[in-house]
Amino acid sequence: PEEKPLSGRHLLVTSGPTHEPIDPVRYLANRSSGKQGHAIAAAAAAAGARVTLVSGPVTLPDPPGVAVVRVETAREMLEAVEAALPADIAVFAAAVADWRPAAFGDQKIKKGPEGPPPLALTENPDILATIARRTEGRPPLVVGFAAETTDVIAHARAKIARKGCDLIVANDVSAATGVMGGDRNSVHLIGRDGSLETWPTMGKDEVARRLVARLGQ
Ligand code: C5P
Repeated sequence: PEEKPLSGRHLLVTSGPTHEPIDPVRYLANRSSGKQGHAIAAAAAAAGARVTLVSGPVTLPDPPGVAVVRVETAREMLEAVEAALPADIAVFAAAVADWRPAAFGDQKIKKGPEGPPPLALTENPDILATIARRTEGRPPLVVGFAAETTDVIAHARAKIARKGCDLIVANDVSAATGVMGGDRNSVHLIGRDGSLETWPTMGKDEVARRLVARLGQ
């Protein structure tokens, strides 16, 4: 059979938002569509990789030829990622909620005369940092994303050190760019060694193909 650039390699991708329940009918979420992460999974499968896509709640179809694990919360996403290891390459494109409601009641919170309930939050696990900092079974190539609205490159440089990943794909998601939920993306690739590459604005599918080609080198 034809040798493809990622043949024989296992690529793990996270994608989409997470939903963090407040009660059985309400949750905290964010505006991630999962388009970029799903496009990366599809491009990696097309490049011959065995692909596991751990996805939060999205309305996108499953990419062809990809094993999809659906999760809802950050904690479920971490569990699914750990279960999917080992991987040769891990790409963390999900917009994981930083916080979740500290208390989850199994009854719907009722409106009452005492006014709005307090919404106490607690920190979620950082999936990217947890995996990138593993001493055993760390994927040889760990890629993070940075969605920023200001000082995109400076924040991404700080993030690569803090998280312990090898590469950060940074994008400007301020509302005016239309990146969140849109079909196009403008990204910067930032390496551990401080290297910076800025790509022109292009479709998320094209960003995915180029990124996958890069990861296969
Ligand atoms: O810290 P920040 O959320 O900006 O970092 C973004 C990167 O970290 C993305 O790659 C995202 O998928 C990952 N991340 C994660 N788990 C979290 C928060 C972020 O994997 N709880």
